[in-house]
Amino acid sequence: MSGQSTTEFVIEPGPPLSGEITISGAKNSVLKLMAATVLAEGTHTIYNVPDIFDVGVMCKLLESMGAETSRRPGVVEIKIRNISPVAPFELVEQMRASTAILGPLLARYGRAEVGIPGGDDFGHRPIDMHLTGLEKLGATFDVQPEGLVGTADRLTGGEVVLGFPSVGATENIMMAAALADGVTHIENAAREPEIADLASMLNKMGAGIVGAGSSRITVTGVEVLEPVSHRCIPDRIQAATFLAALGVTGGEILLRDARYDHMDMVCQKVGEMGLRTSPDRDGIWAMANQRLHAVDLSTLPYPGVATDYKPFLASMLCVADGTSIVTENLFAGRFRYVDELVKLGAEVRTDGNHAVIKGVKRLQGANVVSHDIRAGAALIVAALGADGQTIVADHGHVCRGYPDLAGDLRKLGATIHERPAG
Ligand code: UD1
Repeated sequence: MSGQSTTEFVIEPGPPLSGEITISGAKNSVLKLMAATVLAEGTHTIYNVPDIFDVGVMCKLLESMGAETSRRPGVVEIKIRNISPVAPFELVEQMRASTAILGPLLARYGRAEVGIPGGDDFGHRPIDMHLTGLEKLGATFDVQPEGLVGTADRLTGGEVVLGFPSVGATENIMMAAALADGVTHIENAAREPEIADLASMLNKMGAGIVGAGSSRITVTGVEVLEPVSHRCIPDRIQAATFLAALGVTGGEILLRDARYDHMDMVCQKVGEMGLRTSPDRDGIWAMANQRLHAVDLSTLPYPGVATDYKPFLASMLCVADGTSIVTENLFAGRFRYVDELVKLGAEVRTDGNHAVIKGVKRLQGANVVSHDIRAGAALIVAALGADGQTIVADHGHVCRGYPDLAGDLRKLGATIHERPAG
């Protein structure tokens, strides 16, 4: 799914990156924090909110149900009162994260009418684990082609064992369980930092959640939750994008506000490729002063290498010394950007969920197209290591996940600008 109208990123070869930028709040956290506000009447304030397109979509979704929202730089205020539990298809289909509204609506209003989930265009993304988990708490679903209707008189705590540590399913079940009668255990829960962030906000609202961030979460349901003020964690995926850009260009940068403790594995991987990274009082410091080395990598749920990092790590490997094998274990369609990397002169072969990347010294600028948020970022990263001009045509994807990717890269010395597609 795309955000806005078509943009072109125009990238020229530039000097090594240097200087510092500030990493914004995490897209994959803030959207769930916003959905969670539905659990309590009153006015909620969320800080460190990234200025990205998807936050606007979530505001519209909440407003369509009767909430009032207002935004100022870095802050969103959400007033919850008289919610109508109907999430319209045209908004839900724009953004996969809209499914996060399901658990809160069922828990608070006993009913949720939610359009079919949309999301990035990288294959079929089911929500069966969300539904099975919520059914374990007593919800029932009527699934229709145009959306689903969930009902629950009063949710009751239960034992939920996830077949896979799904981020979205863990979040939905955790939010629903917060207002259920009794205790819920979620086994094989996803452990992403964004889940711990959501649990921390819910606990401030009065929820009884223990173990978020581990694979066993216990939620003791409460009668009522209170409105909250909460600061969103920084975006580790955005931070990793700049590490990848640094790897391609060389240089030395500071990623202000980035959290090293959320990025251990990716820092280890880029370290194997030749980058130096270390936690700094203000964020993450990183330096690249040699040609990158090839490494094999495989995407896994947290704390493994996130699937979201993979496209721009692949861009680094395209110019690394040696041959790398990259394996995608989460989403089938996440190698579409490879065809575009090949247009830039990369030597990549894909076979099922594997890509074999033979590093070349330099890529060559070309006209390429981005198909999702991270693919767009990966092409921009790759273009920084290309001779000549590259134009990345982007149908509104990059702005869904990055407040100002081109501007931030410019601050670090890159030669990139954005213009409406002609
Ligand atoms: C979230 C992130 C996304 C990230 C992903 C994995 C947001 C908005 N998006 O997506 O950027 O790439 O985590 O880290 O936070 N699955 C099922 N049935 C389900 C649910 C998931 O089969 O009911 C499968 C998915 O198709 C996928 C895998 O489980 O293959 C992981 O998906 P999940 O962790 O749920 O990802 P999302 O929450 O959608």
